[in-house]
Amino acid sequence: MKNIDWKNLGFAYMDTNCHIRYVWKNGQWSAGELVTSPYMSIHIAATALHYGQEAFEGLKAFCRKDGKVSLFRPQENAKRMQTTARRTCMAEVPEAMFVDACQRVVKANLEFVPPYGTGGSMYVRPLLFGSGAQIGVAPADEYTFLVLVTPVGAYYKGGLQAVKAMVQDEYDRAAPRGTGHIKVGGNYAAGLYPHLEAKKLGYPVELYLDPKEHKWIEEFSTSNFLAITKDGKYVTTKSGSILPSITNLTLQQLAKDLGIPVEVRPVAFDEVTTFAEVAACGTAVVVTPVYQIERAGQVYKTGPETGCGPVLQQLYNAVQGIQYGERPDVHGWNVEVQ
Ligand SMILES: Cc1ncc(COP(=O)(O)O)c(C=O)c1O
Repeated sequence: MKNIDWKNLGFAYMDTNCHIRYVWKNGQWSAGELVTSPYMSIHIAATALHYGQEAFEGLKAFCRKDGKVSLFRPQENAKRMQTTARRTCMAEVPEAMFVDACQRVVKANLEFVPPYGTGGSMYVRPLLFGSGAQIGVAPADEYTFLVLVTPVGAYYKGGLQAVKAMVQDEYDRAAPRGTGHIKVGGNYAAGLYPHLEAKKLGYPVELYLDPKEHKWIEEFSTSNFLAITKDGKYVTTKSGSILPSITNLTLQQLAKDLGIPVEVRPVAFDEVTTFAEVAACGTAVVVTPVYQIERAGQVYKTGPETGCGPVLQQLYNAVQGIQYGERPDVHGWNVEVQ
């Protein structure tokens, strides 16, 4: 067991034993090797550097109550990375190889998985990029796939904390038929400036509306939007330009299991007054309750300022309970590492 202050881990990169790396050349992936150095040598004409041929994913491994370590729904991340690869003309990583890569690298870094009870987890970051040299705008003839891991702490120490959000009306995150639905680095580079602007104004998260009309809710900069309506429904946005969140899928299923009606549909911003609870959802924190949303000087109350509404809390507990092996994994979402 590593001498790490598990209780005070944040969400930051920490060197571990190794990452796993594969290369695709002449139509074939290499066997994958565990590499100890966190540095790599890359061709100066690699398409990732010039033309943004790059995709990434984010998932987690948890040390469960029974002491076993498992990944949470890695097959879903594999599928999403394949969608991204197709849209950006990169070699696809087969699902079995993706899951095996995650298992191998977590296994090689087991002493960095935060122990059960610390509230932490191991963040798993798969990365795929064009590493072949290509000076004209065209797909590379070589790709690198790697998976790095790093231990991360409990995001909420002492209960879920609510944040306030602002609508980002000055910028868009994605074009209607662009790349908002896939996980390419360029989406995040484009979001940095608007994010820092929102932060300067005192808002930790910003909400994007549809780029065409600024009428429909899309998503937060790094998480999906979900709401519990005053009449008890789970509502989340449907749009071709948002990232299909795996946490959102999970929460929808758990809501259905609890008998909560789930609606996935276009959600007009005007509907905010009908919400009892609002949250941003994603792998990093599961749910972040949003107690108010501001747009053009107008403030809309969307939940309790002191923490989390009851339905979101119930859903959050259900997800974490499965991830830490405290509740039965009836949907078979945990994939064991050992
Ligand atoms: C833009 C965006 N939306 C939503 C999500 C949440 O997705 P997931 O639940 O798969 O982490 C993320 C994080 O990956 C994201 O970057």
